[in-house]
Parts: sequence; structure tokens; C-alpha cells
Amino acid sequence: MKKINIAIDGYSSCGKGTLAKQLAKVLNYVFIDSGAMYRAITYAIIESGFRLDDSEKIKDLLQNAQISFAYNPEQDYFSTLLNGVNIEKEIRTMEVSNRVSEVSKIESVRKFLVEQQQKLGVDKGVVMDGRDIGTVVFPDAELKIFMTARPEVRAQRRHHELLLRGDTQTSFDDVLTNLTERDYMDSNRAISPLKKASDAIEIDNSEMNKEQQLALAIALVQQKIS
Ligand code: DC
Repeated sequence: MKKINIAIDGYSSCGKGTLAKQLAKVLNYVFIDSGAMYRAITYAIIESGFRLDDSEKIKDLLQNAQISFAYNPEQDYFSTLLNGVNIEKEIRTMEVSNRVSEVSKIESVRKFLVEQQQKLGVDKGVVMDGRDIGTVVFPDAELKIFMTARPEVRAQRRHHELLLRGDTQTSFDDVLTNLTERDYMDSNRAISPLKKASDAIEIDNSEMNKEQQLALAIALVQQKIS
């Protein structure tokens, strides 16, 4: 069957990753969480102590950063590795969440990651979620989905996720503030801001469960490959 690339963009914590992962499983495609790549670089910068405006140091850091993904069967999830070290837990902390949008504004970081993301899609059969996948990374993706949900619904979901991970320190309000700030920064940055591609199909999943969302997306895929 014909393979396509599927771009899933949208606001923070909209369930893009959940849908992308489900779709990849059903279609036997590769799932790429592009946000995890921005988080990995953010984590590396925090660890190094480099200033975000120290472009030489950031350039060196990028040259030595190898990001990869490894399937974790226990969680049925792909863990993110930086230079072979599993940093999946570290990149999901509030510290990284609070700094990732600043790091995502840096031109050299975007160039470095977009190049890698584009290579991953060359053979098609990729579901990638992020902010600029349908507009910049895969402007020719055969299917583009733009996801939205009400901020309170999104914060509730993310807060629940953090609690399941054992984070009892972060309040619902902390999560809501972080989401709202990231949405603003991601949508208003100068380089490849978050925006709906003109040919993307919008899905508001505020009132949808995961099964309904998946069924809708599969129907869209079928339209594109048939
Ligand atoms: O998908 P996420 O929430 O884990 O992404 C974390 C941040 O990374 C997000 O707030 C903005 C940035 N990002 C981006 O700029 N471009 C992408 N394609 C994916 C994420």
C-alpha cells in the first residue's frame, strides 16, 4: 500500500503524541516526537550551563548532540536518547518544559533539528508531531492534522500525566500557566511559529476520547491513500 507522511501539529498537550503514536502503530509507520528533540537539546543546554545567547557554545553542543529513539516495551513508548543515554524522564520535567520554548526560538537549533527530521521522512511512512511539521518540516506531507483543545482540558490531562509519573509538586495552575505561556511563545516566535498549514485539517478533541480521535484520523488516512 502507498506510504504517506503524516504531520500532526498543534498547541501544547493536545494529545498530538498520543494520536501520532496510535496512528503509527495501526499503520505500521515510524512515530517521531519532534518536541522530544527540542526537549533533548534544552536538557543538554541546561546541563552544560551555557547561556542561550552564546552561539559558539550552542553550535559546539549541537555538533556533539546525537538524538535517537529506542522502543521501550514496558511503556509501549519510544524513549529519547542523547548520545546513547536515555534521558526520557529528564526531558519531561517542568524545568525543561519551562525553558524549551526559549531554546526552540534559536535559529541554529531549529536548523539542526529540522534537517534531521526531514531525513527521517525521506522514505515516507512517518507520523511526526510538533509545531512546524506541516508548515516547515514536511510541507508536502500527504496528510496534515492540526489539533486543538480547550486550555483547561489540556492542563488537566498533562497534570494527570505528571501525577502518574510521581510528580506531586506541580499544581494544576503551574501546568496551565506553562501551557498558556508556551502556546504564546510558540505561536509568536520569529522563525517557523506554530500555525495551521493552509491544507491542514483541524481536530478539536476537547470532547473526544482517544478512540474517537483515532477513528477520525484513520478515516482521514484512508481518504488519502485510497
Ligand atoms: O511537543 P512538546 O510539548 O513536547 O514540545 C516542546 C516544545 O518544543 C514546544 O513548546 C515548542 C518546541 N517545538 C517546536 O518548536 N517545534 C516542534 N516541531 C516541536 C516542538
